Amino acid sequence: MKKDCSKKINGEIKNKSIISLEQFDPKSLQTLFSTIEKIKKRIHKKGNFTPLLRTVTTLLFFEPSSRTFSSFSVAVKRLGGSTLEYQNPLQTSSVVKGETIEDTLHVFSNYSDLIIIRHPEKGTAQKAASLGLKTPIISAGDGIGEHPTQALMDMYTIYSHFGKLNNICGLFAGDLLYGRTVHSLIKGLAFYPNNHLYLLSPKELRLEPGLKKELSKSGIKITEIYDENDIPNNCQFWYWTRVQKERFNDLKQYEKVKNRFVITPRLVQKKGNNKMIIMHPLPRVGEIDTRIDSDPRAIYLTEQLQNGVYTRMALLSLVLGKL
Ligand code: CP
Repeated sequence: MKKDCSKKINGEIKNKSIISLEQFDPKSLQTLFSTIEKIKKRIHKKGNFTPLLRTVTTLLFFEPSSRTFSSFSVAVKRLGGSTLEYQNPLQTSSVVKGETIEDTLHVFSNYSDLIIIRHPEKGTAQKAASLGLKTPIISAGDGIGEHPTQALMDMYTIYSHFGKLNNICGLFAGDLLYGRTVHSLIKGLAFYPNNHLYLLSPKELRLEPGLKKELSKSGIKITEIYDENDIPNNCQFWYWTRVQKERFNDLKQYEKVKNRFVITPRLVQKKGNNKMIIMHPLPRVGEIDTRIDSDPRAIYLTEQLQNGVYTRMALLSLVLGKL
């Protein structure tokens, strides 16, 4: 029987595929965060830390990526491992000759210890994890579904700032319909009590009602708003996102909603507070005024990116059982 490795983590990440935030729980997240801290300390103290020596990780990216691809690649190499890297396998692998994705995955599972996959079609990572391969799968973004490793690094970033993931008030803004990073991050924050999330989007791009209903069952408070004036002043984080042009069939619709909400110094002055952090998964395409970049509260070009590498290092070590 084919085994599905994408089950609940339940404190044991080794050999598990990472497909959705739904697999995690606060205890597993704490294990991940402690591992991140351990790796950071070890690297800062000794410089050299190579638990992935003699391991090979395949990166199979069917969708463009700057950060996720590079940070995984860097994370593997910093830990002493090697990579097999395919950006755009539709042109650079035998998929171009008509090979199925299933066969391609079987091939790389024989050549490597772990496969990291990004694909434009929601559900592909789960399908890959259900193939019964010898290697675990990590989703690096699954169409409009989820982006679990982005959410894990973002949760760590919030945690490292506030020392907690409960009693948090946060704002998500932009494309909440197609934004997979938002879907994963809200699922993660829903594990913790007394969180209140404000969702600011054009009506056309609001969170899918089924997902909202499912999340609300966990007890998380969700308030949808459609006007910047309704942003409360007490948010601990703002998580801005890009409107995803590539998900629109009708570009006129995209033009109508793109950059409906832009962070400007005026908006931060009016609706922000001194203790908040400003996050964005990137890429950004106009939804943040670049004057915000030098604001010490803006961490999307600094800390958030650095945490991406450390979080992926920790995840790789845990999944491969090499610490
Ligand atoms: N945040 C993120 O997923 O960026 P990339 O698409 O560049 O990987």
